[in-house]
Amino acid sequence: MKSNINDHQLALFGGDKEVKCTFEKYNPHSQEEIDAATEVAKTGVLSNYLAGWSENFYGGKKVKEFERDCRDFFKVKHAITFNSWTSGLVAAVGAIGIEPGDEIIVTPWTMAATATAILHWNAIPVFADIEEDMFCLDPKSVEKNITKYTKAILSVDIFGQSANMSKLKEIAANNNLKIISDTAQAPAALYKGSYAGTIADIGGFSLNCHKHIHTGEGGIAVTNNDDLAERLCLIRNHAEVVASEMGRVDISNLIGHNFRLGEIECAIGIEQLKKLKELVRVRQELAEQLNDGLKGLKGLITPVVRNNCTHVYYAYPLRLDFGIINSNRETIIKALRAEGVPGLGSGYINLHLLPMYQKKIAYGNSGFPWNSDICKRNINYQKGICPIAEKLQDSDYMCIEICAYDFNEKNISMIINAFHKVWGNIEQLRL
Ligand SMILES: Cc1ncc(COP(=O)(O)O)c(C=O)c1O
Repeated sequence: MKSNINDHQLALFGGDKEVKCTFEKYNPHSQEEIDAATEVAKTGVLSNYLAGWSENFYGGKKVKEFERDCRDFFKVKHAITFNSWTSGLVAAVGAIGIEPGDEIIVTPWTMAATATAILHWNAIPVFADIEEDMFCLDPKSVEKNITKYTKAILSVDIFGQSANMSKLKEIAANNNLKIISDTAQAPAALYKGSYAGTIADIGGFSLNCHKHIHTGEGGIAVTNNDDLAERLCLIRNHAEVVASEMGRVDISNLIGHNFRLGEIECAIGIEQLKKLKELVRVRQELAEQLNDGLKGLKGLITPVVRNNCTHVYYAYPLRLDFGIINSNRETIIKALRAEGVPGLGSGYINLHLLPMYQKKIAYGNSGFPWNSDICKRNINYQKGICPIAEKLQDSDYMCIEICAYDFNEKNISMIINAFHKVWGNIEQLRL
């Protein structure tokens, strides 16, 4: 199949496209989700929370049923639903008792919500660098960034596999830090026999519409700690209203919100959870096909999976080695797009380089929390603090957004052929 592809003219320069089909948008929903949503809609009870102290403080029937299923699936003591994982992250940072001016070490190679959850409590994100091959927090860089103000590590299981939790847990234990796992992109990924996200003090998953399973919007936090679970529930549902009636946990740092997920979403979530393992299996098979098909293309580095772990491929991450390839990422992506390859991405803007961090004015002009009286520390967000993450952003990283389409084996074969065609003619893309 691949042998004569190299002879073709690149589509970028007027040749025929290698990929001629169109692609279906990813959709993990079917009749089961429609029936589940309809059944709830017919009852008229679309949410059954009360913000006063009663059993309904913890939500309605479908909320409780979905949370029970999540507990069983992820093998944790507590699963708590939220109306987004952004809400779940905000609640997680509050639940571990973070105070204004505390520092949390976090990766810059993630979606913005990971770090804004820290700012929400007027605490300070401190960005540590990442592993070049697996893109998660580099434990060595985490250690270097610990100060007397550090209270937690917020680690992200980026693109579908867990961070190095053994090492991060060791660092946390030695320095009396809490760990939150942002496992938005890695539901059902395994880390040494446990599900990613379940090893931290609090972990959690996103149920937004791009994820393996989704409820439109939504999130699930997981923890094995009773007090943290209670705090998460309080922050989810107007903590201050029931504070006087609780007396069970220290609630000094709890501002409550309405972070509640509805009954219809939870009914859909129940059905989606049943499909998670199979959806992941399909994604892993497609990734295996890509691994086989792309191996041997000079200067293209396929995903590296951590020992004793599994990858669930929210994205299919690739790296370009420009010691070998004489071109640049933008030109290569342009050539692949011209061949009809869908869903090509070039990764995240490093969070520390976003204007908010560069200007330190997240909360209007006061510059809180960085420049407030309680925190006159000079936090460094300059380019250069995370050289690996920055290099990936600037030049080396690209991905196939495997989450965006319902790819089948045939589609992936065509994508592989397109890569071979571009690589076979890479000289034409020389700078
Ligand atoms: C790594 C990461 N963290 C946090 C979030 C936020 O999740 P949500 O969209 O459910 O608020 C996302 C969503 O894309 C994500 O990918």
